[in-house]
Amino acid sequence: MTELDIPVKTHDESRQGEALMLEQPENRNGRKLYIESYGCAMNFSDSEIVASILSEKGFETTNDYKNADVVFINTCSIRENAETRVRNRLKEFKWAKDKNPGMVVGVLGCMAERLKSKFLEEEKLVDVVVGPDAYRDLPNLIDQVDGGQRAVNVLLSREETYADINPVRLNSNGINAFVSIMRGCDNMCSFCVVPFTRGRERSRDAHSIIKECTDLFNEGYREVTLLGQNVDSYKWTDEATNEHVNFARLLELTALVNPELRVRFSTSHPKDITDEVLYTIAKYDNICNYIHLPVQSGNTRILEMMNRTYTREWYIDRIDAIRRILPGCAISTDVITGFCTETDEEHQDTVSMMDYVQYDYAYMFMYSERPGTLAAKRYADDIPEDVKKARLQEIVAKQQQYSHVRLQSQLGKVQRVLIEGYSKKSDQDFCGRNDQNAMVVFPKTEGYKPGQYANVLAEKCTTATLIGRIIE
Ligand code: SAH
Ligand code: SF4
Ligand code: F3S
Repeated sequence: MTELDIPVKTHDESRQGEALMLEQPENRNGRKLYIESYGCAMNFSDSEIVASILSEKGFETTNDYKNADVVFINTCSIRENAETRVRNRLKEFKWAKDKNPGMVVGVLGCMAERLKSKFLEEEKLVDVVVGPDAYRDLPNLIDQVDGGQRAVNVLLSREETYADINPVRLNSNGINAFVSIMRGCDNMCSFCVVPFTRGRERSRDAHSIIKECTDLFNEGYREVTLLGQNVDSYKWTDEATNEHVNFARLLELTALVNPELRVRFSTSHPKDITDEVLYTIAKYDNICNYIHLPVQSGNTRILEMMNRTYTREWYIDRIDAIRRILPGCAISTDVITGFCTETDEEHQDTVSMMDYVQYDYAYMFMYSERPGTLAAKRYADDIPEDVKKARLQEIVAKQQQYSHVRLQSQLGKVQRVLIEGYSKKSDQDFCGRNDQNAMVVFPKTEGYKPGQYANVLAEKCTTATLIGRIIE
C-alpha cells in the first residue's frame, strides 16, 4: 500500500482486488468472465449483480484473468491512491491482452463514472466503460465491443435499484451476505466524490429487500448486512397500503425474518441516526450491537467546511444516546486528517473526540483532494503531506490503544458467536464474530459447525482478536 491510510481494522481491505467466482450457469455461451472489485461493500455487492446479469447470458466465471474472455475491474475513486491501484492493475491486464487480443477489458464502478469516455483516451487497452447504474446494459455493450467498437454507458439513474435482480453470491461462505437497500447519496460532503459517481439517493422496494433476506435465510445464510451510504435516510412507501417504511421499520422487518438471522447495517450518518433506530436495535436480540458512525473530524469549524451538517456537540449527543440506550454497543468511525485549513488545535479536537468515544475500531485516512468535489472547487489542499501523515500516525496509535482496551473489556464474558469458518492460522480453530463485531477464535468442538451459533467464553485477546472456548 502506498499511503498510510490503512484502517486499523477493515473487512473490506482484506478483500480488495479479490477475484470473484460463482456457480456455473446451465446455458453456457463458452465465454469466461473474470471480475475483480475494489472499494466499499457496495461495490462488492454490485459485482454480484453484474455476475448475475452476465450469468443469465451464459457467461461462466473464472478466477484466472489470463484465461478470461471478458475481464472486468469494478473500481473506486474515493482517494487518489484507490485510483492509482486500479491503473497499476490495468497495466498487468495489458500483458494478458497482448497475448489474447480478443479479450474484452471493462472498467466498471465509480472510476468509470468519474472519468467517463476520458478513460478510453487515457487507457488504450480499455474496451468498455460502465457506470454503477448501467449494468443492465452490459450484454449489449459487450456485443458492441464484439462488433469492433469501444463502448461507454455512464448514465446515472434516479430509479435504478436492481431490485428485481437476484444477486449471485460470489466467493460466499454461505453464511454472511450483503444486501443493498439503497443507492447513491444526496449529502454532498465537500470532500467526497460519491454523490458524483453514484448519483442521487434512492431507496429500494422494502418487499424485495425482505424477500432477499428471507431467501438467504432459507438457503442457510445467518447474517445479512444492509448496505447504503446513509442507511438512516432510507425511505420507501408501499403504494398498496400507503405504509411509510423508514430505516427503523426496515430494520424491524428484517429482524422479524427469523430470530436466528443476524442483522447488521452500514453506514449510519450522525445527522440522521434517530433514537427510534437505537430503540429498535435494543428491542431485537438479532440486530447486532454495532454502529459505524463516521465522525470525520472532532472540530465544528472543520465539520462545517466538510458540509457534514452536524457539530461536535451534536455528534457527542448521538454517542451519549447510543451509550444510554444500548450500553455495550460497539462503535466504529471514519476520520480524515489534514482537511483544508485544519490547524493543530483543530486536529486535537479529533484526538479528544477519540478519547471521549473510545471507538472499537476506526478507519483513518489522510485527506485526498478529489477533482470536481466542493472542497476541490472552494478550498486549497493546503496541509503539507508530512503534517497530514503525522496527524494520521497520532490517531492510528491512539486507536490501537482503544481497540485493545475495548477488546479487553469483553474478557471473562460469554459471547454469542456466529461460527463463520476456520481460523486463518489453524483449521483446528473456529472463527466468527460476536454481537459487537469483534473477531473471536476458539477450538473446534464436537457437535458444532460453521453457520451455527456458539456461546464462547473470551479468555484472552491479541491486538484485534478475542480468544476463548465454547461453553456448553
Ligand atoms: N457514506 C459514508 C462514507 C463513504 S466513503 C459516510 O458518509 O460516512 C468512506 C470514508 O472515506 C468516508 O467516511 C471518509 O472518511 C473517507 N473519505 C471520503 N472521501 C475522502 C477523501 N477525499 N479523502 C480522504 N478520505 C475520504
Ligand atoms: Fe460521501 Fe458524505 Fe455521502 Fe458519505 S454521506 S457518501 S461521505 S457525500
Ligand atoms: Fe469507492 Fe465508489 Fe464505494 S468511490 S468507496 S466504490 S461508492
